[in-house]
Amino acid sequence: RHSEYKAQYNILDETTSFYQEQLRTSSHRDQAVTYLKSRGLTGKIAQVFGIGYAPPGWDNLLKKIGTTPDNLLLLEKSGMLIRHEERDSLYDRFRERIIFPIRDMRGRTIAFGGRVLGDDKPKYLNSPETDTFHKSRELYGLYEARKLSQKLERIIIVEGYMDVISLAQFGITYAVATLGTATTAQHIERLFKTVPEIIFCFDGDSAGRKAAERALEATLPIIKDGFQARFLFLPEGDDPDTLIRRESREGFEKRLNEAPLLSEFFFRSLEEDIDMTSMDGQAKFSNAALPLIQQMQTSLLQQMMLDRICKVTGLTLDQINNTINLTQSIPS
Ligand code: CTP
Ligand code: MN
Ligand code: MN
Ligand code: MN
Ligand code: MN
Repeated sequence: RHSEYKAQYNILDETTSFYQEQLRTSSHRDQAVTYLKSRGLTGKIAQVFGIGYAPPGWDNLLKKIGTTPDNLLLLEKSGMLIRHEERDSLYDRFRERIIFPIRDMRGRTIAFGGRVLGDDKPKYLNSPETDTFHKSRELYGLYEARKLSQKLERIIIVEGYMDVISLAQFGITYAVATLGTATTAQHIERLFKTVPEIIFCFDGDSAGRKAAERALEATLPIIKDGFQARFLFLPEGDDPDTLIRRESREGFEKRLNEAPLLSEFFFRSLEEDIDMTSMDGQAKFSNAALPLIQQMQTSLLQQMMLDRICKVTGLTLDQINNTINLTQSIPS
């Protein structure tokens, strides 16, 4: 079983090299290089992230690496080749796309993302879930961040491949991306094993704001004293890539340093649509906040957030515990 995975890792590394080589030698390479340049990427940063190119055609990878029955099987298992059922034949998943290898903590390629060079849909295509690739666990750029930074003190979580790469090119070498999925508890736990501070920085659009609220809910049960989470909100229409191109490293880091902490974002988003001057509003606020605070680890932060509710409502913790039907009462 172990050797089976080993072969799978090997074939994905060979595939990574193949796509990188295509970026240098394909007869269609000009359009790929032009595209990467139009996105402001240097050859150096493309090298660091192992960026490659899948030329047009249905069988480039198939012909180059699918040379034995074993290899064909491995390529199909890892999602690089797709089976056409009626014809009982295989074809390349990634065609005419910029290729982003997704690596695990040890630097082994475990999957790929591929972007179209223009405005075609879907904009991004990703490897499917496999035995060695679980989207809910992996973070794009974590391996590279550890390699590029001597000591990681904080990590930014962004939405996209290009956000990670663009930030790195501007010297912010500590960003990672979820792979087109919501941030999971597993992501957050993994990051808090690496650094004491994480900063969520999603796109400045409604999907990004929704993602931040979900990230907050995923972080609450995990965060402990000594760890910090911040939430950086970008101007409408920006993502980290577009913003750092305008504001450069200094501007972006200033925003990072000033980004609201978890508790600040928590109360701000709860109070948003509530009239906090009325008693009814204060009750509504407390009823929304308490079940979430209850999920937190017993900590000073939890106590302080409870204090805030006591201040707002003028109630004591005992009164709150006695009145509200909490399945498990909050430590007072
Ligand atoms: N994504 C995806 N499939 C899509 C669209 C998006 O998997 N069809 C994922 C990709 O990981 C993408 C991320 O969601 O990087 C964020 O999406 P979006 O903001 O739309 O793309 P950007 O990363 O900003 O792409 P670009 O700057 O290259 O246009
Ligand atoms: Mn598994
Ligand atoms: Mn977006
Ligand atoms: Mn973008
Ligand atoms: Mn984006």
